[in-house]
This record gives sequence, structure tokens and C-alpha cells, in this order.
Amino acid sequence: MNPSKAHFPFIKMDEAGIDMQGNPYHSLEEAWIQHVALNPNAKKSNATIESWYEKSTEYWKQQESTVNGMLGGFEKLHDDDIAESKQLLQQVYFSKLANRNEMKRIALDVGAGIGRTTKFLHCPLFDEVHMEDVVNIFVDKAQEYVNNPKLTQRICCPMQQFVPYANTYNVIWIQWWSI
Ligand SMILES: C[S@@+](CC[C@H](N)C(=O)[O-])C[C@H]1O[C@@H](n2cnc3c(N)ncnc32)[C@H](O)[C@@H]1O
Repeated sequence: MNPSKAHFPFIKMDEAGIDMQGNPYHSLEEAWIQHVALNPNAKKSNATIESWYEKSTEYWKQQESTVNGMLGGFEKLHDDDIAESKQLLQQVYFSKLANRNEMKRIALDVGAGIGRTTKFLHCPLFDEVHMEDVVNIFVDKAQEYVNNPKLTQRICCPMQQFVPYANTYNVIWIQWWSI
């Protein structure tokens, strides 16, 4: 096995397809390497990188501001998704890393959409929550949807340009989202 894949044994990256220029690729890894990661032309061209992100942003702007929209039509996964995520947070953060003497715990939900995880996962477990997403319609909707004074900051910004506050967050969470 390629050692760089040793830590990600569950990720299947062999899906073939056609890229933005109509060129075929044999795996997602190959597409990423060719277009953004290792291609010296891509690195020099901000336009290539911007169009990579624009396609995704355009897609998300067309999606409904609902749980179903956030889950790509798989609303039925919501309850299990939140339950499993709570379990993960308990196992990884609360039972191992959390400092019991902490006065205030703050979570940052990145690519949060309308705040589905902010509302059901982070608000119940943290004292304060900040959220970020690139689509302003989602960020606006979150105020009413989350409807919780613990949500103190809603930031509309692309992740690739986002600089979170330093030394502020106990947990930075990214769910159902890749860059
Ligand atoms: C599948 S939804 C998941 C939303 C939320 N994390 C959840 O689990 O309900 C993906 C989210 O990523 C956001 N997103 C996509 N590209 C982004 C980018 N470059 N910067 C910030 N957010 C982005 C979309 O607007 C969308 O809200």
C-alpha cells in the first residue's frame, strides 16, 4: 500500500470521471493532483483554483436551505448522523481532551450551512458556537433556524480564505464537507 494512504484505509478514491476541461481522469486523487495540488500550471493560475471552488459554491447556492438540502436529499440520515457525531465528540474530545476546569467551551462549525450541526450537536454541548459558510443565504437562515443565543457569530466566508480567531476554539468541526 502507498504509505500516504495508510492512514485513510476507508477512503475509496478510485472513481473515474471527466474534469472541468473535459479531460478524463482515472481517480479523484489523480484529478486533484493534476488540477490543484501538484500541477505547476494550476498552482500559478489563480483562475484554475478559483474555478475549482466556484463550481462548488455555485452548486451549493442552488440547494434549499433545509436539512434535506444540507444532506443532499438524505434527510433520513439526520438523526443517526447527529447521534453518531455526538458519540464521536464524547469519545474524542469530552472524555480525553477537555479540561474540566475550563470556564467556557467554544466550538467553531465550518461549512455549517444553515447550522444543522450547530443546532443539534454543538449548541447542546458547548457554551458558545461560531459558524462559517460560503453561502450567505445559509448563514442568514441559520439565525432563525438555530434560534439559540449560544450561536454568537455567523461568518460568511469561503473556507479557503477563512482565518479563524487564534486560541479561541476548543473544537473546530467540519461535517459533510471537503475542500
Ligand atoms: C453537505 S453541506 C453540509 C452542511 C453542514 N456541515 C451539515 O452537516 O449540515 C456542505 C456545506 O459546505 C458549504 N461549502 C462548500 N464549499 C465551501 C467553501 N469553499 N467554504 C465554506 N463553505 C463551503 C456549503 O455551502 C454547504 O453549506
